[in-house]
Amino acid sequence: MLKKWLRESSYTVVFTGAGMSTESGLPDFRSSKQGMWNKKDPSKIASTTALNNNVQEFIAFYRERVLGVKEYKPHKGHFILADWEKQGLLQYLITQNVDGFHQQAGSENVAELHGTLQKLHCQSCGKEYSSEEYIHQEYYCSCGGVLRPSIILFGESLPEPAFQTAYEQAMRAELFIVLGSSLSVTPANQFPLIAKEHGSKLVIVNMEKTDFDIYADEVIHDRKIGELLAELDTK
Ligand code: APR
Repeated sequence: MLKKWLRESSYTVVFTGAGMSTESGLPDFRSSKQGMWNKKDPSKIASTTALNNNVQEFIAFYRERVLGVKEYKPHKGHFILADWEKQGLLQYLITQNVDGFHQQAGSENVAELHGTLQKLHCQSCGKEYSSEEYIHQEYYCSCGGVLRPSIILFGESLPEPAFQTAYEQAMRAELFIVLGSSLSVTPANQFPLIAKEHGSKLVIVNMEKTDFDIYADEVIHDRKIGELLAELDTK
């Protein structure tokens, strides 16, 4: 049904999670085999508490992740989504991912709910830097403050503009497609419901079951996103 709905819909919004980037080589967070949070407690490493009380470990963890997004690249699925935007098949992309791969693949209408690892900013004065600084082991701002990735840490609220955009797009959607998210994190996981409540069809594409499957009009499990998007992309 997804292929038919995709052709028929006049306003399609895609919502991606870490499962969109595993085929690029980046680990996700909660899948049973490779999830990052199976080995680390996010509240102890990906949080403002870690930044304030455990800065060396915090920086080491995020330097690894910055190296990852510099080393790996968007895969064919990212390029297909960018192409659909150009063809007018896809109107907006809401992502929880911080790798910047959607933009690198050419997508322009993107709301990054959780920020981006491509940038850093000073925790004290807010000055922005490229995440290249972490690559070169530069961890402090000219003001002396510590540099941190411009992502949303556990304990922080979502960036207002991205949240507002995502809300508006979910309200406008006729077709809302989730790609590669366990939908475990609020408030990001509310957008599929907002779309559904405003009359959109909801399709969840995810290797494993999610708690939101019960609300979906169609659920596709046990399929790799890259392959599925390639199938959907055939004329
Ligand atoms: N194809 C389809 N599904 C996949 C693939 C794939 N190639 N690879 C992984 N998945 C599925 C996994 O089964 C998993 O359920 O993608 C889902 C990813 O879920 P999570 O790891 O929980 O990632 P996500 O939903 O994006 O997490 C949300 O949590 O830690 C925070 O800020 C972080 O943005 C992240 C948020």
